[in-house]
Formats: sequence, structure tokens, C-alpha cells
Amino acid sequence: MKILVLGSGAREHAIVNALLRDPAGHTIICAPGNAGISEVAETVGLNATDGPLVAEYASEQGIDLVIIGPEAPLVAGVGDTVRAAGIPVFGPDKAAAALEGSKEFAKDVMTAAGVPTGRAVSATTMKEVETAFDDLGAPYVVKADGLAAGKGVIVTSDRKAAHDHAEFYIQHGPVLIEEFLDGHEVSLFILSDGDAVVPLEPAQDYKRVFDNDEGPNTGGMGAYSPLPWLPDGFVDEIVETVAQPTIREMSRRGTPFVGLLYCGLIVTKDGVRVIEFNARFGDPETQVVLERLDSSLADLLLATATGRLATAADPVFSSDVAMTVVLASEGYPESPETGRPILGLADALEVPGVSIAHAATAHDGGGFVSTGGRVLSVVARGGDFGQARERAYEALGRISLDGAHYRSDIALRVAR
Ligand code: AMP
Ligand code: GLY
Repeated sequence: MKILVLGSGAREHAIVNALLRDPAGHTIICAPGNAGISEVAETVGLNATDGPLVAEYASEQGIDLVIIGPEAPLVAGVGDTVRAAGIPVFGPDKAAAALEGSKEFAKDVMTAAGVPTGRAVSATTMKEVETAFDDLGAPYVVKADGLAAGKGVIVTSDRKAAHDHAEFYIQHGPVLIEEFLDGHEVSLFILSDGDAVVPLEPAQDYKRVFDNDEGPNTGGMGAYSPLPWLPDGFVDEIVETVAQPTIREMSRRGTPFVGLLYCGLIVTKDGVRVIEFNARFGDPETQVVLERLDSSLADLLLATATGRLATAADPVFSSDVAMTVVLASEGYPESPETGRPILGLADALEVPGVSIAHAATAHDGGGFVSTGGRVLSVVARGGDFGQARERAYEALGRISLDGAHYRSDIALRVAR
């Protein structure tokens, strides 16, 4: 197949690598891609959020499948335009991407579909915010309604900080005040062709910037898969109580969801609750989930894009474990320092079971420099988490980037 992947992060690098592993052999083009992706596939400097441009390029190139990585093109309606040009697209139309693009819309769908989620109040004035704080109590959870690259959410017991966060985001639209949910988080990716659903393997993401879940929320600082502590039947339960009702509700509304429904879940003592939906693969969870995928990703995503998921072969996962640690620039997430040389990547890749998914890197002379906050993901697989951790942190120790930081506790709990 000739496949166009849209996006420029470590998630897209992981998707491209998984497509390339397929023995069937595919031609992969990534737009715009990044320096790491350009070493393994063709990259093209195309604005991935410009639907007509992407559709025209894909038609000219005879692309068989377009895979939309990030949320921005989905919410901008790139899926609609490319699909209208007759090209199979992995990724929902604009209307269905609102499951991620608007937290208020997502709550409305969950309520209609009877999906278990925390209580929430949508507020448009600070008076409503204060009333909701009184009603729901501390810790306070405040979420900006639209896309905010992982920065729109605050979870805090400090009422003043919660107030200030709401006051900032309410200038741009409604904010959601949510009941605090206590428990372990699970990211579960569910493929849907608009009707049938197929789950991938669960992963755990580490959202906070520092060890022991301290510091502000980020886009994600690391992940591991599988989750050995989940009860038997967990995935089936989520398929039945979350994915199927949501997908049915989207169809009922005339806006079928075709692509990946990312279920962000919290396992509370009262049962599982959805904390958010995303309309795409998660980053960095994709780096670990796809690392363990042994069957063809291209076949699976094409079946999803073309309404053939019900008859497609189920995905097959390795019994190996995988983990990833994100190397972040000094100052991330608030104000990352960029333009610094990254050294030691070749050495790091010598560690058995290790691969690197690039995110914010650029070529500079013969080497690489950092260009953003989350610079790259070191991915390690192993027979168990102890081995994977040794490998991941050995590799990270061989990489140098001035001022960079990463979490040292990824998969620590499961390695013990
Ligand atoms: P979201 O962007 O909605 O995924 O929120 C980002 C992070 O904030 C989540 O991954 C959780 O760690 C945390 N969070 C969000 N909503 C809640 C909630 N209702 N209770 C506790 N933590 C939450
Ligand atoms: N890792 C969280 C996300 O992709 O939204």
C-alpha cells in the first residue's frame, strides 16, 4: 500500500515504524514528519491541517490510505475533505472528532449513551464556577472546553489556583468543573469503523512532569504496556460499557466515528469512569502499544477506514512488555528551551530492545538539535518490566541534551 501519515510527533514516528515492519512492504510518506521520521520514510513539507491541500496531494500520489495522527487536522475537518475525495481515511470527520475537540460535547454523548463518567458542570461565568466548586468540593478539577495540548486541565486542592485557571480559560469559552476521581489511570485504544469496535491493548500514561506524579500536567512523560494489575475481563467491560454505546450514539446522531477512540479511564473503587475521550492515538502510549503489535497495522487501519473491521483479523500482540520514557527540554512544559544539540543517539540505539521515536528534533550538520518540549521517546521492550526499565534507562544515560529532564519512575510499580 501507499500510505500517507499526517503529523510530526513521536506518535507518528511509532506509527511509521510499525507500518514499515509489515512484511507486505508499504511505501510510507509522512507530512510533515520530523528529522527522525525522515531517516526511515519520505517526508513532505505539507500543512497537515489544510484539508484541500492534503486531499489534492493524496490524489496525485495515488495514496491508498491516509492516517491522521494528531487532533488538530481532525478537528479542522481534514478527514472530511480527504474522504470526500474518495480516499480511505483513518481518523474521524470533524463532527465526530468533537468527542475530543469539545469536552462539553463528549460529556453530552456520554450522558446520552449511559457511559460511566464523573459528574461535571459546564460553567460560562465565574459565579457558576464558584457554585460548582462548592457543590463538588476539593480537589478541584477544571477543564478548558477546547483543545489545549494537555495544558487545559488542572487538578488541585488549592481553590485559588483552580479559580485562576478557570478565570483564564473562561475568556475563551465554557469551562468544565468536574468531580475528582481517585484511582489508577488506563488508556485504552479502540478502533471503530463507525459500527464494529476492536480494542488494542491497554497502556498507562504518566501525565505529570516529575517523579511521583508531581508538578504540572504535560502531554505525557512516559508509558508502559500491558497493565498486569488490571482485572480479567477489563477490556471486554470497557468495550461493552464505554466503546459500543459511544459508537452507537455517534451513529445515531448521523456522525459515525471512524478511527481510534482513545478512552482515558480511571479505575475508582466504585468502578471505571471515563475522564476523557480523544479521537486519535495517544502520545506516548502509541509508542508502547504498537511496539507490541505483531500483526499488520496497515491492514487493521485500512479495515477500520473502509468499514470492514467486523471481518478483519484480530490484532495480535507480543507477550513482551514495552515502556517508553520521554526526554523533555529544560523548562518543559511551561517554556521549553530549544535549539540544543542532542548527542549519543547512536550509542543509545545499541542497547538491546531499544528504539527511539523522534518528536521535536531537527537535523543540524551531521547530528540533531531539539526544537520543542517533548524531544523524543526512548522505547524499550523486554521479557519483563525489570529488563525493560534497565534497557530504557541505560539508553537514556547515553543521550545528552543540555538541561533535559525525564521521569525515572516509569513502570517502576510494575517492575517490583
Ligand atoms: P484530560 O485532559 O481530561 O485527560 O485530563 C488530564 C489529566 O488530568 C488526566 O489524565 C488525569 O490525570 C487528570 N484528571 C482529569 N480529570 C480528572 C478527574 N475528574 N479526576 C481526577 N483527575 C483527573
Ligand atoms: N497521552 C495523552 C494523550 O495523548 O492525550
